[in-house]
Amino acid sequence: MPDATSPRLSGTVVHGAGRGRMLGFPTANISPDPGSDVPPPAIYSGWLARPATGAVHRATISIGTNPTFEDGSRVHTEVYCHDTSDDLYGEHVALWFVARIRDTVRFASVDELLLAARADVRRSEALLDSARGRRVLAAAAR
Ligand SMILES: Cc1cc2nc3c(=O)[nH]c(=O)nc-3n(C[C@H](O)[C@H](O)[C@H](O)COP(=O)(O)O)c2cc1C
Repeated sequence: MPDATSPRLSGTVVHGAGRGRMLGFPTANISPDPGSDVPPPAIYSGWLARPATGAVHRATISIGTNPTFEDGSRVHTEVYCHDTSDDLYGEHVALWFVARIRDTVRFASVDELLLAARADVRRSEALLDSARGRRVLAAAAR
């Protein structure tokens, strides 16, 4: 896990499969910049910084192959922002990781995935408000 002063993941927001919006969890799909250090597959809590607007958003991040829906090996970096429904397509953004929440799971149903994702967001909210969360925010907002 990078600390607040480590390089963070940056990349461009691209179109995903479009499932997220349907599920009530619209995610920004990030295409990482070449040479970016993408953390190992898991669910994370973190901050999404938008240089275009100067805003920093509360986020829960899924890095993985979306095994509930896909059999492929392509790793997706998807960000659910808690506090905005802005369309970020085409923007260059940076992710600042606060904590790892859990492993990615191949759920048997979409309902189970949604239950887990809601719990992840609650956990993420607490982590973002923790001392470490605030330290990382200070670095992200610089
Ligand atoms: C908080 C959160 C947790 C997630 N956890 C999992 C998971 O454990 N397993 C999984 O297959 N996908 C997980 N996902 C990824 C979803 O499968 C993905 O966001 C959804 O399929 C939408 O994809 P799309 O943006 O490409 O349309 C998670 C997404 C979020 C936002």
